[in-house]
Amino acid sequence: MQRTLLKSIALGFSIVILFLIFDNRSEVVRATKVQPPQEKTVDQVGKNIKVLTGMPESQLIPVMNFFAASMGRRCNYCHVNNQGQWDYASDDKPEKSAAREMVKLVMDINKTTERLKLDPVSCYTCHRGRTSPQSIPALPLALPSPPPNAGAGRPTPGGPTPGASPQASPAATPALPSADEIFSKYAAALGGQTAIDKLKSRTVKGAITQANGNSFQFELSQAAPDKFYLLVTTPEGTIERGFNGQVGWEKTARGVREVTGAELLSFKTANGLFSLLKLKEQYSRPPRVRKDKLGDRDVYIVDGTTTDNRRMRLYFDATSGLLLRRTTTMSTMIGIIPDQIDLEDYREAEGLKFPFTARAAALEVGNPTSTRTFTELKLNVPVDDSKFNMPPAPKPAAP
Ligand code: HEC
Ligand code: HEC
Repeated sequence: MQRTLLKSIALGFSIVILFLIFDNRSEVVRATKVQPPQEKTVDQVGKNIKVLTGMPESQLIPVMNFFAASMGRRCNYCHVNNQGQWDYASDDKPEKSAAREMVKLVMDINKTTERLKLDPVSCYTCHRGRTSPQSIPALPLALPSPPPNAGAGRPTPGGPTPGASPQASPAATPALPSADEIFSKYAAALGGQTAIDKLKSRTVKGAITQANGNSFQFELSQAAPDKFYLLVTTPEGTIERGFNGQVGWEKTARGVREVTGAELLSFKTANGLFSLLKLKEQYSRPPRVRKDKLGDRDVYIVDGTTTDNRRMRLYFDATSGLLLRRTTTMSTMIGIIPDQIDLEDYREAEGLKFPFTARAAALEVGNPTSTRTFTELKLNVPVDDSKFNMPPAPKPAAP
């Protein structure tokens, strides 16, 4: 029965962090009406899990994408596809068995990295987008750059040492603003904290364009503090997602299911009214600040751990104060999975500024980037609360 649900990956897609993502998750987690509040583990939902036991099930597909990205291949490198039908549980491909051994290797190595308080090693540490890591240095060796002794002298007062590598930062750095100052400047640049605090709801319409050129219309309704309803219209049917403050859900042609764990977190990060407006409160402790460049713009990077234990890095334009980029990472047992959005085209709408274009990049082999643009935006229009509730499960579709 699960097999009929394991449809072609090409058909499965949905929306991640702001936007589209492959939705193989729903092929694994079927629509169930009753779900315990505690998230299940992959070994509870998968058919043939031997090494990733104990991992939250919402991390399975992100981790699979991590495998694929580390190897520079797609899912079919390790999984059997019979004329468009995926059989993920099958062990017919030797690469899948090799990957299992590799998972054990990584967990083994990381006992040592943990003891030495080093960053954990992942598949990517060795593979770097290739199936065969390179262990033997290629000859001839490139001349090390910078050559020994260049730039190793005393720093020139007031500026970087000529010839020093960009990592050797100048000794005399101008005083950095505090994270609080950066957040205040951001709020002011958007239209003021009062306007943000007065915001009760927002409805937007627009389009989402995937890396392969596919484009879909979407509508998003949000209400304070974190309720949302998203509707995406695709040629294969509509995808709806929502959160009523308590229950997160998704409805596709395949049914209705409750969304929990890391997946719900990413839905909320993508669609919450304040997820890009109230940033300070998302950090669990005061984040660090440093100065850097993003393209040719000077930015302040605010970096820290969020209340939900992810790492979040925010890039603020040093001049305008606006947020240009947000990266977040999710830690899993086999590696740290990053995602990123770049925010552009800030326009004023009813007294507040919003980025009308957001470009997302995620670790997804099928859909590495997507762009969301707004065409219409309304603030503080009342939204019927029932819209955010999980709809009843429809009659099962004919197979
Ligand atoms: C480098 C090899 C590799 C790649 C690439 C890979 N997987 Fe996997 N996959 C595995 C292994 C190994 C397991 C079994 C893990 C275990 O035994 O704990 C697995 C298990 C799964 C399962 C659970 C099957 C079950 O037992 O019910 C699903 C679903 C899955 N993969 C989907 C995907 C998808 C989708 C992709 C592409 C985004 C993908 N995989 C890419 C190696 C891979
Ligand atoms: C410490 C380095 C290292 C790490 C970490 C690592 N690998 Fe490997 N992996 C290798 C080496 C070396 C080979 C052998 C390559 C060869 O023979 O060309 C290999 C081979 C493989 C193969 C078989 C390739 C083939 O050609 O048959 C797969 C699949 C694989 N690794 C997946 C993974 C996955 C998935 C992870 C993370 C869970 C991972 N590896 C982590 C070093 C590593």
